[in-house]
Amino acid sequence: MTQQTTAIVRIQRYNPDEDRKPYWQDYEVPMTAETTILDAIETIKAELDGTLTFRRSCRHAICGSCAANVNGRNVLLCHSPLSEHLDRRGVCHIRPLPALPVIKDLVVDRTRFWEQYLRVKPWLLGPDVVPDKEFRISPEEVAALKDAEKCIMCGACFSACPVTAMRPDYIGPHALQKALMRVLDPRDTAPAERLDIVANLDGIYTYHGVGNCIEDCPKGLNPVEAIKTLATLYARREELQAQRTQSHETLIPRELPAAAD
Ligand code: FES
Repeated sequence: MTQQTTAIVRIQRYNPDEDRKPYWQDYEVPMTAETTILDAIETIKAELDGTLTFRRSCRHAICGSCAANVNGRNVLLCHSPLSEHLDRRGVCHIRPLPALPVIKDLVVDRTRFWEQYLRVKPWLLGPDVVPDKEFRISPEEVAALKDAEKCIMCGACFSACPVTAMRPDYIGPHALQKALMRVLDPRDTAPAERLDIVANLDGIYTYHGVGNCIEDCPKGLNPVEAIKTLATLYARREELQAQRTQSHETLIPRELPAAAD
């Protein structure tokens, strides 16, 4: 049987309707080696303090809603064992994602995060004519898309980035990563338009090289590399657009010649 012990979970509390400023509150929770930080917070909510407010949905590192700051790093609470995030006194510090307005306790306002995401038109702009059966994509093209597809939009990179904190108009690492996915997608018709959207000081030219986004991404993605790739592709956007347009023209079904009588 797994040994049970206890830990102190220290949470930053803040209710703008009642509190002048944020404060720390400690909770002693039971813990085994399998207990995640989200498990601990749910125990607090159910058994110790029903006023504690946080977001979560999937509990399997898929929805991104439980992202928060633990001991100074942004993590997914549902994917972080409590036992691995205790200091020498057995305490785990949890705060809301930094650089985003706090709605209550661990819940932040992600409006700016989503507004910047929409700027890059993250949806597919496909051709008018599509193949009868399937879009054929080469293994190389699949490999290029793989990283960006793993992003779950949790906001860890956006919150950790010093540029998003300083420049409200910065598109942000999450949206630039998704922009690259669409630029590389062989089904998409508008790589040049997409590159034009990000090639400015709100986008790839504010690249700073600090790399907090890489360190805090719970999926191990590298938005810095994505930003560098966008800059490289921007330099040859016309050639890229011509190649894409030509490849889509080959998809147009040709009418079969009428059968001879
Ligand atoms: S609850 Fe969905 S990612 Fe943690």
